[in-house]
Amino acid sequence: MRKTIIIASAVVLALGCTENRPDAFVDSLIGKMTLEEKIGQLNQIVTTSGDITGPLEGSLSTYEAIKKGWCGSILGVRNPDEIQRLQHLAVDSSRLGIPILFGHDIIHGCRTIFPENIGISCTWDMEAVKKFARVSATEAAAFGVAWTFSPMCDVCADARWGRVSEGSGEDTYLSARVAEAMVRGYQGEDLRADSTILACVKHFAAYGAPEAGRDYNTVDMSWPMFRDKYLPVYKAAIDAGAGSVMSSFNDFEGIPVTANRKLLHDVLRDSLAFGGFVVSDWNAVKELIRHGVAADEKEAALLAFKAGLNMDMVAGAYLRNLGAFVSEGLISEKDIDAAVRPVLQAKYDLGLFDDPFRYGGKADRMYRQGSLESAREVARKSMVLLTDKAGILPLKESSRIALIGPFADDKKEMVGAWGAMAEPERCVTFLEGLKEEFPHVSYSEGCAPRKEIPGGIADAVSLARRSDVVLLTLGLPSSESGEAASLTSISIPDCQKKLLRAVSATGKPVVILLVTGRPMDLSEEKELSDAILVTWHPGTMAGPALADLISGEFSPSGRLSMSFPENVGQLPIRYNQKRTGRPKPSESTTSKYCSRYVDAPNKPLFVFGSGLSYTDFSYSNLRIENPAVKAGEDVVVKIDVTNTGSVVAEETVQLYVKDDVASRTRPERELKAFEKVLLNAGETSTVELRVKYQDLAFFTARGKWEVESGDFTVFVGHDSDASLSGAFSVLPENR
Ligand code: BGC
Repeated sequence: MRKTIIIASAVVLALGCTENRPDAFVDSLIGKMTLEEKIGQLNQIVTTSGDITGPLEGSLSTYEAIKKGWCGSILGVRNPDEIQRLQHLAVDSSRLGIPILFGHDIIHGCRTIFPENIGISCTWDMEAVKKFARVSATEAAAFGVAWTFSPMCDVCADARWGRVSEGSGEDTYLSARVAEAMVRGYQGEDLRADSTILACVKHFAAYGAPEAGRDYNTVDMSWPMFRDKYLPVYKAAIDAGAGSVMSSFNDFEGIPVTANRKLLHDVLRDSLAFGGFVVSDWNAVKELIRHGVAADEKEAALLAFKAGLNMDMVAGAYLRNLGAFVSEGLISEKDIDAAVRPVLQAKYDLGLFDDPFRYGGKADRMYRQGSLESAREVARKSMVLLTDKAGILPLKESSRIALIGPFADDKKEMVGAWGAMAEPERCVTFLEGLKEEFPHVSYSEGCAPRKEIPGGIADAVSLARRSDVVLLTLGLPSSESGEAASLTSISIPDCQKKLLRAVSATGKPVVILLVTGRPMDLSEEKELSDAILVTWHPGTMAGPALADLISGEFSPSGRLSMSFPENVGQLPIRYNQKRTGRPKPSESTTSKYCSRYVDAPNKPLFVFGSGLSYTDFSYSNLRIENPAVKAGEDVVVKIDVTNTGSVVAEETVQLYVKDDVASRTRPERELKAFEKVLLNAGETSTVELRVKYQDLAFFTARGKWEVESGDFTVFVGHDSDASLSGAFSVLPENR
């Protein structure tokens, strides 16, 4: 403790900064820095080994870079002791002792792993989301990481894109609520606390719409589409106070975002009033060359800098070129000062100048009991029951359970796509979790995720025959989820289908446990099974969370944040699609000249917002308290919800709005509010939902973000097919 205090005061003395006004502190620090040191703060490097003298590009070592003040941030350090060593080097051996900002991808947990983010969004529970982010921040900070590259705010309606696992699905409103809850969870009330960390809104912008679902592919969309569906999520996270933004890999209107001044400056700074700093995505400054908009590294660095990008992630292009730009008069030192200011400000806000070692060195904060309980709660709430044909779930304690399939007892597969700090051996598998609750559980692997194993199917079938019920894990491995994991088929792999057919032919009831980071085509699986529970990659507490549901201790409450299509050909598919001039009159129509597929329905197999419980809910008595809505007024809607079954369960009451006539084509309906309510068997509760006036706004034909007066229809119910409806009108401004 004493050592820390001495070091901290040494930094303050060395910097000569006793000012307690943050901007004055930062300005005074900038005044003491050489041009080279300023540029160093805009440079982020990566170290992946424990070797702090490992090479950077050229002959420069990490060690040398830190000593010279050529590195403002480091990402990718997986060893907490190394973080401390590198920080000491910066503080003790660089001229000004400016602390390093350590960043990492803490995406769905640090040590305690939560479900992949798509699963987290299926909780529709913002308190749970906040808890997850708090635990992540506490563990990351204890590790030494002060900055996470999260939340991912990319809306996506295309399950071919592997990164849907990192986002919150296809809907703007739900994604925005999750993103802001995550920012609040990470950053807390006080960023200087030793358990809060800086959030990073990514990937700005429109990264979730790559053509054909192929990662890093070009994005081409209209400006109204961008403003209505994509921008609001980034905005919500920024409005919640996120201190940094990461630019995205894709191009937008033909200009890669890394060099897109319209997005990085006009939208981000001018429209959204973002005051933090922008970091590029991995090596993206140099990738401007391969995009074909820069001839060489020098041009790439200039384009990115002029667009408004503050920090260069791992490319080293700023470090090697910005100095020359100043001498050549291409940019001024004042421009560099402006770029470096928010980076230093973030370090100040995090309290790094007071105590560069406030993050790290707290191993006892990992895997706390409360954190494990939160991981279990979030995993349980993330699981979505898609079908349960004959009410086979929950299972009786005496059931003889055959647990089959490639994901049933694989700790690594519970982690999911982002687990840099994860310790898979700490994960509790489905088999381990179920054994705690059920005395008669037997296991057979059946097959590997994409390969048959000798005798696997025969063994599984024999086990199924000796059991009362089969729990069959099917799906995709973690390696097929996340970045650079696009797929052209979202079907269950062939070997697993074979296993399902064989097991189902025994006549035993089959419950599919779907382990996946994306929606899948389950058309055959729906027919061949009695129930389907989507578990996602559930994280450290996978087994106990599953057992909570299978035993009936809790009723499933997860609701889909992304439609599950009939087949891959429907993609991209979203419930909030635009209206057309030739809508399909009904699902069974045979009329030719309407907007439909000849060989498949328009509707997905499982709609957005859907998910079953061990009970049913009925809705009645929808009323709109203020059907004539004045400008600026929220719309207040009330509805009675009854639990008509025999067990306590949580319902997510969803409200959708349709703008009946508008200056631009509008979606069929859009989610605008939701509330969770816990109801005892037979209980009725009146639920109040508020639609914020501003949430009725869209990018109108006048080129403005505004609410148009006129008539709206409201739908309230269990999912995006909700049919109970009401109406309200927004009055013109002067009424
Ligand atoms: C990803 C980002 C991530 C970064 C740093 C990139 O490849 O697109 O999401 O934060 O790497 O690891």
